[in-house]
Amino acid sequence: MRSHLRYNNHRHVLAQSSLFLIFLGTFAAAQAASDTLINGSNLTYGEALVSANGTFTLGFFTRGAPARRYLGIWFTVTNSSTDAVCWVANRDQPLADTSGVLVVRDAGDLVLLDGSGHVAWSSNTAGTASSSSPTLQLLDTGNLVLHDDSSDVKLWQSFDHPTNTLLPSAKIGMNLWTGGGWSLTSWNASDDPSPGLFRYVMFMRGGLPEILMLDSSDTIMYRTGVWNGLWFTGIPEMQSYSDKVAFQVTVSPSEVSYSYSIKPGGPLTRLVLMDTPLVQRFVWDSRSHSWTVIFKGPRDGICDAYAKCGPSGMCDESADGATSSSFCSCVHQGFSVVSMPDWNMGDTSRGCRRDAPLDCGNKSTDWFAALEGVKLPDTVNASLDMSITLDECRARCLGNCSCVAYAAADMSGGGDGSGCIMWPENLVDLQYLGGGQTLYLRLANSKSGYGVDMATVKDATRNFSTRNVIGEGVAGRTIAVKRLRRTSDIPETIVSYFTREMQVISGLKQHQNVVRLLAYCNEDNEQILVYEYMHRRSLDAYIFGKPKERALLDWQRRLHIVLGIAEGVKHLHEGEGSAGNVIHRDLKPGNVLLDGGWNAKVADFGTAKLLLAEATGTRTRIGTPGYMAPEYDQSDGGETSLKCDVYSFGVTLLETLSGRRNSDRPTSLVSEAWRLWVERSVTVLLDPAVTPAPSRAELPLLRRCIQVGLLCVQERPDDRPAMSEVVEMLRSSTLELVEPTVPMLSSSRTLATLLEEADLSRTIDFT
Ligand SMILES: *[C@@H]1O[C@H](CO)[C@@H](O)[C@H](O)[C@H]1NC(C)=O
Ligand SMILES: *[C@@H]1O[C@H](CO)[C@@H](O)[C@H](O)[C@H]1NC(C)=O
Ligand SMILES: *[C@@H]1O[C@H](CO)[C@@H](O)[C@H](O)[C@H]1NC(C)=O
Ligand SMILES: *[C@@H]1O[C@H](CO)[C@@H](O)[C@H](O)[C@H]1NC(C)=O
Ligand SMILES: *[C@@H]1O[C@H](CO)[C@@H](O)[C@H](O)[C@H]1NC(C)=O
Ligand SMILES: *[C@@H]1O[C@H](CO)[C@@H](O)[C@H](O)[C@H]1NC(C)=O
Ligand SMILES: *[C@@H]1O[C@H](CO)[C@@H](O)[C@H](O)[C@H]1NC(C)=O
Ligand SMILES: *[C@@H]1O[C@H](CO)[C@@H](O)[C@H](O)[C@H]1NC(C)=O
Ligand SMILES: *[C@@H]1O[C@H](CO)[C@@H](O)[C@H](O)[C@H]1NC(C)=O
Repeated sequence: MRSHLRYNNHRHVLAQSSLFLIFLGTFAAAQAASDTLINGSNLTYGEALVSANGTFTLGFFTRGAPARRYLGIWFTVTNSSTDAVCWVANRDQPLADTSGVLVVRDAGDLVLLDGSGHVAWSSNTAGTASSSSPTLQLLDTGNLVLHDDSSDVKLWQSFDHPTNTLLPSAKIGMNLWTGGGWSLTSWNASDDPSPGLFRYVMFMRGGLPEILMLDSSDTIMYRTGVWNGLWFTGIPEMQSYSDKVAFQVTVSPSEVSYSYSIKPGGPLTRLVLMDTPLVQRFVWDSRSHSWTVIFKGPRDGICDAYAKCGPSGMCDESADGATSSSFCSCVHQGFSVVSMPDWNMGDTSRGCRRDAPLDCGNKSTDWFAALEGVKLPDTVNASLDMSITLDECRARCLGNCSCVAYAAADMSGGGDGSGCIMWPENLVDLQYLGGGQTLYLRLANSKSGYGVDMATVKDATRNFSTRNVIGEGVAGRTIAVKRLRRTSDIPETIVSYFTREMQVISGLKQHQNVVRLLAYCNEDNEQILVYEYMHRRSLDAYIFGKPKERALLDWQRRLHIVLGIAEGVKHLHEGEGSAGNVIHRDLKPGNVLLDGGWNAKVADFGTAKLLLAEATGTRTRIGTPGYMAPEYDQSDGGETSLKCDVYSFGVTLLETLSGRRNSDRPTSLVSEAWRLWVERSVTVLLDPAVTPAPSRAELPLLRRCIQVGLLCVQERPDDRPAMSEVVEMLRSSTLELVEPTVPMLSSSRTLATLLEEADLSRTIDFT
């Protein structure tokens, strides 16, 4: 395969370029250097091997003071060797001067000798080949290979001895035949390549491969989550650069390993275990001539710190609050913090425990809550069956008392995935990521709901003594609490409002535009709902507020909010909740909450109706005058349909853009909007208190948005678009919209009015 002629040729080139100085080397000069060193020849300080296409250099470099000298390989993309060393030979045996020399010996090994001829480093391959005619070559992959040409055997390669960097096509993992493997070891310090405190190692955990970062005492600092066929479950963002980088995980009888390669046209990249507990993926940006970091493990923030929130704890980086414990909560309602004093001091390591035991009968009454977008918990004690479907997995988990959660093991076939991971108590290192996988958490179907113990909530809210108190949150996070104290004169309707709200929202899959229920209590004469806290409260406070409040919502924000509401309602209507699809039935700006980023979240499910679970209509009138669809309003609670929500959405949209409340009078906002539409001057409706006035670019978008609103309030329910269509229309600026037909007005006295009349505490907010 290789001719001697070529070697001789290379030797010749090497001799000519022996004065080639690595630190001054330009790309052009580098191309003049050889990539090969043959038996008997050597490499001295100032000389280098350069891979054929110039990407990698093998040579000597210097670190620290007093200067320590190392033999290593680095990327040649930069003009200095200081920032991208990717392999070091004599990590813990630095040379004190420039007299070092790398020799390819005919014994079939590679040695680095210091000035007095002592071996500072060796490939330890002497005599491994029967006869040898060794050649050393630096490949374009960055792999340095010692090859025996007489027997055509690879004697040694640097990819088998990675230091702190994983290059494309190199691997980390386990060789199951030899018991050996490949792992990364950090540098001791940024100027000290000697082995440091951290290692990045692949293991099989519960039957699936996973990479762990360990410290010197083998304590887990960070885990990637198990490989699910497409990504490590703790790094869903791997999918986002899969167009540039191909990931490969091998599980075979001989080997378990991870490697990656750059797709054609992709940038140079390297994965480096830093000298701190941090692994980073760098990508070469040829425009800015610098390495940029596209991945950090652990990420900035605290949730990637292993087991941060303890057993049965859930970490959520996006949770509000400034203290570390506020990122942690119990994994679900139905769990309580083990040690509240520790937790409140920020020590969340003891985590949470179940309030009620699981039902271990033959026909278990337990159910599963779908926790979407999570990093799956540590699988070290989990069991695996790749051969069954997710439905079979659920049945098997339910039938095994020691199974507390399950998830799909393989996502590569698309859909909800296949295969089955089952966890025994306790779930460790769980966090919300967005874009992660779904964990199905087993929960007791206890009669008291999925409640916290009441004392925790009471304590947290200081016995509800005052309104709008600032106090300690449940489970250390900021919460909003809704409470109903049941007295004999409270109508049963209102009691059922709470029960319904709990049922509906706990059965819904989470969505960024639907408010999240954290806990629920149902005791004899008291019911409490605990929600995530929304800094900015409800939309009505802004759109109907004083000029200062109105000004906070500029046109971009209003359009963003309208789209958010539409997405939220679409999720209720069409998302696949375990409770079936949901009609909200009381959609209005007062029931839309805003988070810190002005994202809309649909709230208040007391009036909601489960479309599948409750097929027949109720006689109770539900809704708020002005928002109720005419057909629903006039038929005394009869035919309800998803289109009623579409109507309410339309009204909410028009109110959000106009800053005016709709009413049941003839001069209502809806009729006014229709009049202006017919007169082709509908932008007169826009709230003049919003400054600056809409730009030329914004005006057509706003006009379009109003048109969508008018389509939603059309008289005939069949004419109104479905929420998915509404979302599509709002997302597009080009999709052609039909002309709205005449709208209709609404009126009624309803449950919402009843609720206001009853002594129902409003939302109390806590920090
Ligand atoms: C390195 O090679 C040079 C010339 O090729 C030779 O003079 C020198 O002795 C060699 N050094 C070692 C340590 O082998
Ligand atoms: C490397 O080159 C860039 C531009 O080519 C220059 O800005 C920079 O100062 C150089 N760095 C060193 C260490 O010479
Ligand atoms: C390797 O080099 C040594 C010394 O230069 C020489 O004695 C030996 O014959 C060479 N071996 C082969 C196989 O070329
Ligand atoms: C050099 O070769 C490597 C490996 O084949 C390739 O990834 C890289 O893009 C090449 N670089 C240049 C500058 O051609
Ligand atoms: C690693 O660095 C620490 C200080 O940063 C030093 O004390 C220690 O000796 C170094 N270890 C080695 C093996 O050089
Ligand atoms: C539960 O199942 C086991 C084994 O299948 C059976 O022996 C037992 O009688 C069952 N118990 C009840 C209460 O059905
Ligand atoms: C796994 O099981 C062992 C032994 O019961 C236990 O000590 C350990 O905490 C468990 N680890 C996890 C992550 O569940
Ligand atoms: C139940 O689950 C545990 C732990 O996952 C497992 O060890 C055990 O074999 C399972 N039992 C059955 C009957 O499947
Ligand atoms: C709450 O009420 C209970 C009994 O009414 C009382 O013992 C406790 O001190 C109160 N807690 C607070 C924080 O006021």
